[in-house]
Amino acid sequence: MGNETVDNLATPEYTPQLQAFRQVLESRRSVRRFTDTPIPDDVLTDCLRLAMLAPNSSNLQPWEFYVIDSADKRKRAVKNCMNQNAAKTASRLIAVVARTDIWHEHAQQILREYPDKPVPKKVKNYYAQIVAMDFIRGPMNVISVAKWGATQAIRQVKGPIKSPYYTFDDVKNWATNNTALAAENLMLALRAHGFDSCPMGGFDEPAMKQLLGLGGNHHIVMMIGAGERADNGIYESQFRFDQTQLVHHV
Ligand SMILES: Cc1cc2nc3c(=O)[nH]c(=O)nc-3n(C[C@H](O)[C@H](O)[C@H](O)COP(=O)(O)O)c2cc1C
Repeated sequence: MGNETVDNLATPEYTPQLQAFRQVLESRRSVRRFTDTPIPDDVLTDCLRLAMLAPNSSNLQPWEFYVIDSADKRKRAVKNCMNQNAAKTASRLIAVVARTDIWHEHAQQILREYPDKPVPKKVKNYYAQIVAMDFIRGPMNVISVAKWGATQAIRQVKGPIKSPYYTFDDVKNWATNNTALAAENLMLALRAHGFDSCPMGGFDEPAMKQLLGLGGNHHIVMMIGAGERADNGIYESQFRFDQTQLVHHV
């Protein structure tokens, strides 16, 4: 099956939920020009709440969202976004940030705030020990070397084992994966509320981090400009490659 849309809307599978879901996904575009209409605070708050419902590894939620409200910061942030119209005309400009250092703190917070009391022993063990083993690297990655050896040995003897994180880049990749899912949720939530967005990778990350006071353990995964779509907000027709090229049934 290629990229054709489902035409038979009379099928029992075509529920109102599916219809609404498809409308949100199919109407989302990267919008580069917005009107002056502001996104109300309560709408933005709801979109951020929906963003953070994204699935994420071990529920460690390694994301942060910096909504750039101050006029002065906003001016400088637009410049750091290479003066793109999507940033310049946006009602809201948001830095979507992945944290590489927060797993430990969040693991402890999960145990404190775990909703099903008493916290099951398995859960305590998972967050206190297994998560720590997954992430801990030690000074100069010295623990990672031992972890690598142990993982190889277990793989040989017992069979498949999930690779732990050995390097800073492994953790950065992990945090980025999780955060990108939340970013997509945010953009879809904005669309569902009747607003639009443009994800931007075209920005000066060191300059933006300096502006927002972020350190080496913060990675700006993308900037998102958001607002009401202007009539000339879409620059080109949407197209995607055919599924037959990219989907492999193996
Ligand atoms: C990680 C990422 C970075 C992007 N960076 C930019 C950007 O800097 N400027 C821009 O105008 N669009 C940017 N885009 C938007 C893409 O160009 C757009 O998603 C793509 O052309 C498909 O169009 P559509 O989103 O309207 O379907 C980015 C998208 C993603 C996911």
